[in-house]
Amino acid sequence: VCAFFTPKRLAGRKVVITAGPTFEAIDPVRGITNSSSGKMGYAIATACVRAGAEVVLVSGPVMLPAPLGVRRVSVSSALQMRDAVFAALPGADVFIGVAAVADYRPVQAAEHKIKKSGASISIDLTPNPDILAEVAGGPNAPFCVGFAAESRDLDGYAEGKRRSKRLPLLVGNLVADGLGGDDNTVILYDDAGKHPLPRAAKPVIAERIVEHLASLLPAGAG
Ligand code: CTP
Ligand code: CA
Repeated sequence: VCAFFTPKRLAGRKVVITAGPTFEAIDPVRGITNSSSGKMGYAIATACVRAGAEVVLVSGPVMLPAPLGVRRVSVSSALQMRDAVFAALPGADVFIGVAAVADYRPVQAAEHKIKKSGASISIDLTPNPDILAEVAGGPNAPFCVGFAAESRDLDGYAEGKRRSKRLPLLVGNLVADGLGGDDNTVILYDDAGKHPLPRAAKPVIAERIVEHLASLLPAGAG
């Protein structure tokens, strides 16, 4: 209603966001992925555009259209996601890691479809890079926001991740509350402590998160 008077809190800012799952190929027809829908990351991207930001959305495979006004870069694996993030990063003021990046990938994807036999088989996995930790720990790091979906001890794991990845802001939720669904219940963790948000639809949560991060953003270089 009062669109004219909505303050554009991210005007002149560039925001890079990751969203969705990653897909780590096992062979040409199979892979390792997870149940992230991308809804939270896409809602954050939409909220950032509404706040006046230039937005690059680096997205794993999801069933969602690109939000209006967002430049989407579609990727599949964690390694591709890292490359796309670092390509988009120059000039960014904010990086928000919402993607559910696979922690491991097969050491090598098989060139051809793996055929079944009666025997059991195993797949060797190797750790993927931590995209968020690399961005936050790099030179001229933008303001970095992390997400953590936990199945227990949310406060402990969330604060632990915020500290170890050196993030000014982390958004935590319990997997039972958010993953894949339309609503979410989240807690914001920053240097001032924890700030629980009331349960709401993901677009509403996204607006609150963006408002909070904008309030923490150092002034200047817009
Ligand atoms: N993240 C990332 N790259 C990875 C793993 C995670 O950028 N390879 C980011 C996610 O996008 C999220 C944050 O790091 O913003 C936390 O991800 P999460 O999976 O909760 O934490 P991990 O550090 O991977 O620890 P674990 O999975 O063992 O809980
Ligand atoms: Ca992980």
